[in-house]
Amino acid sequence: MTQSMTDELKLAHDEADALIAAATSVDALRQAESRLLGKQGTLGKLLASIGQLPKEQRGPAGKEINLAKQAITERFAAARAKLEHAGDQQAVAGAQAYDPTLPGPVVPRGSVHPVTAVQWEIEDILARLGFVVVSGPEMETDYYNFEALNIPAMHPARDMQDTFWLTNGWLLRTHTSPCQVRAMERLGPPLRVIAPGRVFRYETEDASHAHTFHQLEGLMIDRGISIANLIAVMKLILSEVFRREVKIRLRPGFFPFVEPGFELDMSCEICGGTGCPTCKRSGWVEILPCGMVHPNVLRAGGIDPHAYTGFAFGLGLTRLAMMKYGVQDIRGLNSGDLRAIIRPEQRHGPAIIEKN
Ligand code: DAH
Repeated sequence: MTQSMTDELKLAHDEADALIAAATSVDALRQAESRLLGKQGTLGKLLASIGQLPKEQRGPAGKEINLAKQAITERFAAARAKLEHAGDQQAVAGAQAYDPTLPGPVVPRGSVHPVTAVQWEIEDILARLGFVVVSGPEMETDYYNFEALNIPAMHPARDMQDTFWLTNGWLLRTHTSPCQVRAMERLGPPLRVIAPGRVFRYETEDASHAHTFHQLEGLMIDRGISIANLIAVMKLILSEVFRREVKIRLRPGFFPFVEPGFELDMSCEICGGTGCPTCKRSGWVEILPCGMVHPNVLRAGGIDPHAYTGFAFGLGLTRLAMMKYGVQDIRGLNSGDLRAIIRPEQRHGPAIIEKN
């Protein structure tokens, strides 16, 4: 072993020290180690130079160099282990930031359908006025759907609503109005009822027509009920639902079960009244047909029309939900796609899509 070889070995140890101190990752350590111990490294070159030594010196020099190589390998291994341990510690420290006692993130559990939301809202508004909620069957008889509502057989008014007739002679109710006479029979006067529910029409579907949609029937019967009562309640409903004064217009409307009958339109909330497919480009949407209960209907319900009067309305719940939540196409309400249903900037009421 020559003096210069001894110097070279010391140099290799110093180099290892410097490389280990500089390495900040396990990968960097590995690269440094292979550079130092590889053929082109300090030790590799030393080993290669052994051949130039006198024969008797080659063995001891080789042994010396291999010992140094082994020592340096061990030091790198130790340094690597230390870095790995530090990494583990860091991971553990990170994990401790997770507090298992905290409540988890809130997972939205769906939302109330816009039609249901509007229905509940109107139920609440009218409950304050003493109305109670009743329901009727979706599969109805000709009698309650037409006859008792002053629409006798062969009457042309039957064509106002395209009907799904069932093979047993019954039908799918075309409106919630049959609940009127059912309520009169069951409760008797005076009465204040609302009947929300699904109705069915044999219709071609488009942006504003569906074969299945929702209405909310209202009926108030007492002594001395007049059109003034009707208008007051209609105004209350709409201004509460839209939380502002909405533009409305009242037109005479023909419905066999009311006299006089009205069409109550509101300015289209989708286009602001300028005209769009939802309002058939008219700027107005029929939303609240209503009127004074026809004497024949009161009679059918067992109520004396000379003693009692009343008003009725048939609110288009689906249409109202479309107006309130900015749903442009009625078919979106029957699809499962929530994005199709709610346009956030069009919401007037509480945000219902996040509601748990
Ligand atoms: N039943 C009617 C329809 O679906 C709506 C209606 C109009 C209901 C006038 C009423 C009313 O109670 O008074 O077309």
